[in-house]
Amino acid sequence: MSKRKEVSPELITRQREIAGEIQAIHAAKTTPPLALVDTYGCQQNEADSETIRGYLRDMGYAFTQSEAEADLIIINTCAVRENAENRVWGNVGALTHTKKAKPEQIIVLCGCMAQQESVAKKVETSFRHVDLVFGPHALWRLPELLQKFMTEQGRIVEISDPDGVIAENLPSLRTEGPSAWLTIMYGCNNFCSFCIVPHVRGRERSRTPEHILADVRRLVADGVKDITLLGQNVNSYGHDLDGNADFAWLLQQINAVPGDFRIRFMTSHPKDASERLFETMVACEKVAKHLHLPVQAGNSRVLAEMNRGYTKAQYLALIAAARKHMPNIVLTSDIIVGFPGETEAEFEDTLDVLEQVRFDALFTFIFSPRTGTPAADLPDPVTRAEKQRWFDRMLSLQNQISTDRHKAYIGTTERILIDGKTDDARYPLKARTDGGRLVRLAGDESLIGEFVDVEITDASTWSLTAQLPL
Ligand code: SAM
Ligand code: SF4
Ligand code: F3S
Repeated sequence: MSKRKEVSPELITRQREIAGEIQAIHAAKTTPPLALVDTYGCQQNEADSETIRGYLRDMGYAFTQSEAEADLIIINTCAVRENAENRVWGNVGALTHTKKAKPEQIIVLCGCMAQQESVAKKVETSFRHVDLVFGPHALWRLPELLQKFMTEQGRIVEISDPDGVIAENLPSLRTEGPSAWLTIMYGCNNFCSFCIVPHVRGRERSRTPEHILADVRRLVADGVKDITLLGQNVNSYGHDLDGNADFAWLLQQINAVPGDFRIRFMTSHPKDASERLFETMVACEKVAKHLHLPVQAGNSRVLAEMNRGYTKAQYLALIAAARKHMPNIVLTSDIIVGFPGETEAEFEDTLDVLEQVRFDALFTFIFSPRTGTPAADLPDPVTRAEKQRWFDRMLSLQNQISTDRHKAYIGTTERILIDGKTDDARYPLKARTDGGRLVRLAGDESLIGEFVDVEITDASTWSLTAQLPL
């Protein structure tokens, strides 16, 4: 069992006091200072940005989307692929202009990229207009770090803690709407050979069931109808806690919370998904019958090189077991094309998995070498152009499968949660099915936040179209 470090309530209270001290300074001004929070990466970062916004609100900031107007810009970054990092550097570079026009502007780089030492060095040499750099493990100390910068005025870099902690009772300002993220665990212990996440997010740390259930009750009381439980591998929830809490048990507890809401979760690692999880999904009526089960590759040699902990046959057996328990389950996955040393024949095993499983949708990536991960040092003889050809082959196969699966919905009745507006005048509302498929429909804005039964009238590769009952 790994060492689990929880931040003491006194230390959290101190951060909240510092937020109050900063708020008092801002309250003396005629208008509140403006903050902009720019978020890259996965849902985990979206959830962290809600904490950042909560702290900023408590410090007396109002919010803006304008970089020129902002007194404080916080860029919450992602390190998972090179193009994610390049986008951040491009946008940070462009801020030299806003800072020149407004020298008192504070620029903060945080999140997964910021945890890497190479990033702090690059800021030091080439991005000197960045004032504060801190990794995900220091997020709970945002008020203290900002106050230190405001009083000392030198650049601050805080990336010292490699493993991470659990910090409870932090503020949060949720993005409006009936759906919410809820982090149940932080970090990852799996060290897939291609992945930077365990290096920047630290070791697995589970939040206690008490804290999670309190958050669920609060969200439901706030009118939230769709809660997505977040962790890099939710199936290992509880391993670091005393007692017998595991993910299936946690799902049962959340399912028992009164209210009309849906429970989703991501991500499930195939090596830890079990029949017990599937039985629990069946038994819990609030749990969406959707499984995001990233396979990454279809060839067993490549999977072993990736350190994924399962073979092609084991993955297919798991899918068969999930379908035995839930014949209509929606299945989605992540795929990496062109892992170092993957041959075309091995890549074709990935196509074979796609044909056998017939996923509803995929998130697909070309391998991106991440410094510090074992895969970045492997020989990688296949050209980028060749990988792109494989990638395009995979996409056209999957697009056909997604279209076919979506067409099968036409004429059926689905229970959907209407969760927001679109820019499309014909279909101004958007919604999700239980399985997480995007639905577009006509109707009044007042329906946002409602579950309704609709008839699916049309379908494309990416979405379904529905009609409200007359
Ligand atoms: N924890 C999740 C899991 O094990 O499935 C995945 C989290 S990761 C943030 C999301 C996805 O990014 C991965 O499933 C993988 O497909 C992709 N990914 C991670 N590292 C990558 C890399 N070096 N190159 C390309 N894609 C990568
Ligand atoms: Fe990365 Fe693997 Fe952990 Fe997922 S399970 S975050 S892919 S190391
Ligand atoms: Fe997520 Fe990117 Fe970090 S995918 S965990 S924000 S590296």
